[in-house]
Amino acid sequence: MTISLLHKVGGFAAALALALALALPVLWSPHLAVAAEGAANAADVAAGKALTFDRKKGNCLACHALSGGTQTGNAGPALKDMKTRFPDSEFLYDRIYDEQKYNPMTVMPTYGKNHALSEAEIRQIVAYLLSL
Ligand code: HEC
Repeated sequence: MTISLLHKVGGFAAALALALALALPVLWSPHLAVAAEGAANAADVAAGKALTFDRKKGNCLACHALSGGTQTGNAGPALKDMKTRFPDSEFLYDRIYDEQKYNPMTVMPTYGKNHALSEAEIRQIVAYLLSL
């Protein structure tokens, strides 16, 4: 009885090990990981664009020209060629989080510091800006 149970458990464990061995390379495939990352980034870019254009959220168009934006202000520079001009995404994040750190006299709101935008929202905006 005990032996046959052990035998069954052993067989089940072996089958599980085999299933895992077959599934793991697929689950860990770098190709799939990259595809998942690409989809996550596309979602962030779309959410970031919405936040940037939303007059009640980022309202970045009030001061910055942006591709596709209408009725844009010009207090700040046009936000374009961002990937070339901001190779360091953390620096770009920091500028949106707290521009006063870089220019104490700026009129740009300190979105992160004053909690107008959450850190996750600023990350989404950064993803969008770096797609420009
Ligand atoms: C009230 C006006 C105003 C608003 C609103 C505003 N900015 Fe700015 N922004 C500025 C000004 C002015 C500068 C120029 C630098 C400075 O003043 O320190 C600037 C600079 C920047 C820079 C650096 C640009 C460069 O080319 O060096 C980035 C990036 C930026 N803003 C992003 C944003 C984003 C993203 C939003 C919306 C979430 C936003 N800004 C909203 C006024 C604004």
